[in-house]
Amino acid sequence: MRPTHIHINLTRLRHNTRLARQCHGGSLLAVVKANAYGHGASACARALVDLVEGFAVSNLDEGIELREAGITQPILLLEGGFGPDELPLIRHRHLTPVIHTPWQAEQLLGGVCPDLDSVWLKMDSGMHRLGFSPESIAHWVRRFQHQHPVPIVVMSHFAHADGRTPHALDPALNVFRKAISGLSVSTSLANSGALLGYPEAQGDWARPGLMLYGLDPSGSQHPPRAPLLPVMSLRSQVFTERWISHGEFVGYGGLFCAQRPTRVGVIPCGYGDGYPRNAPQGTPVRIGQRIVPLIGRVSMDMLTVDLTDAPEVQPGSTVELWGDNPNVGDLAQACGTIAYELICQARRAPHHYQDE
Ligand SMILES: Cc1ncc(COP(=O)(O)O)c(C=O)c1O
Repeated sequence: MRPTHIHINLTRLRHNTRLARQCHGGSLLAVVKANAYGHGASACARALVDLVEGFAVSNLDEGIELREAGITQPILLLEGGFGPDELPLIRHRHLTPVIHTPWQAEQLLGGVCPDLDSVWLKMDSGMHRLGFSPESIAHWVRRFQHQHPVPIVVMSHFAHADGRTPHALDPALNVFRKAISGLSVSTSLANSGALLGYPEAQGDWARPGLMLYGLDPSGSQHPPRAPLLPVMSLRSQVFTERWISHGEFVGYGGLFCAQRPTRVGVIPCGYGDGYPRNAPQGTPVRIGQRIVPLIGRVSMDMLTVDLTDAPEVQPGSTVELWGDNPNVGDLAQACGTIAYELICQARRAPHHYQDE
């Protein structure tokens, strides 16, 4: 068996979820879209059923996957329906679509789904992707209140919650509060960044994603804001090793040229497994207790490391590409991306679930 695996620690997932609850007085929707950010949506949702009030996914297919996994709690579809034909199916599965465009609203108001238990309306507070304008939200709230006397939640999503700049959310919050003032609605605002850094931006329902997986959206270069524990680790084993001479190259394009006799270790994990192809020379890879440098170009199925100074490392030694150390946030930063992207792309290797 190829020894490359993704390890998912469900005990840590629950630990991080309890931390999210400590940051937030209201209800929690665990965001498990994109296969729970690469962690496995069904397994993660099942592990969280007693800790959250519901789940959020992107679309109908992801919602159906959770229903088929036995999840009975509310499931919010963050992008709502993609076409009028989806709504009956969405309701058949008792999923809750976010309503963010007039056609979605009119379809519901037209009576397609008389059995709604709540209505979630999205407002654009400055991100300018999805949502009703601040000027029009009261109109839609009133129309739904008139026709569907069920609780209404007005939600919005922050464009600036991922950094640590004080008051970065104030403009969006001001827009949001002004637009809903006087309306009898619940609110949903906070993602992980807002939960961790902006207590003023909580709302009734929080929607944390990344922090549940043990990562801080502001990156790992700052002091920790909560004792989050990474849930995913990408692990493998040293496959083979060989010595090359001074002046010889390693891998595609000869990116690495040996400046001394060099012991090259081959690890069967590459960009096909989600490890970033543009990882720079010297990127840390942990083998046992030792950190060794990446050398040469990361290829689809393999990457290479310099084992010259690590004589104890042998074929079969355990490798951690990301996890506790190296942290995926550090790796992402070195590669000019974000942890979200790396964990979502870890799809090929088999997932192993650990639950203590
Ligand atoms: C609408 C919405 N809410 C919440 C989240 C969760 O965000 P995070 O993973 O930063 O907590 C996302 C993620 O993209 C989102 O799109």
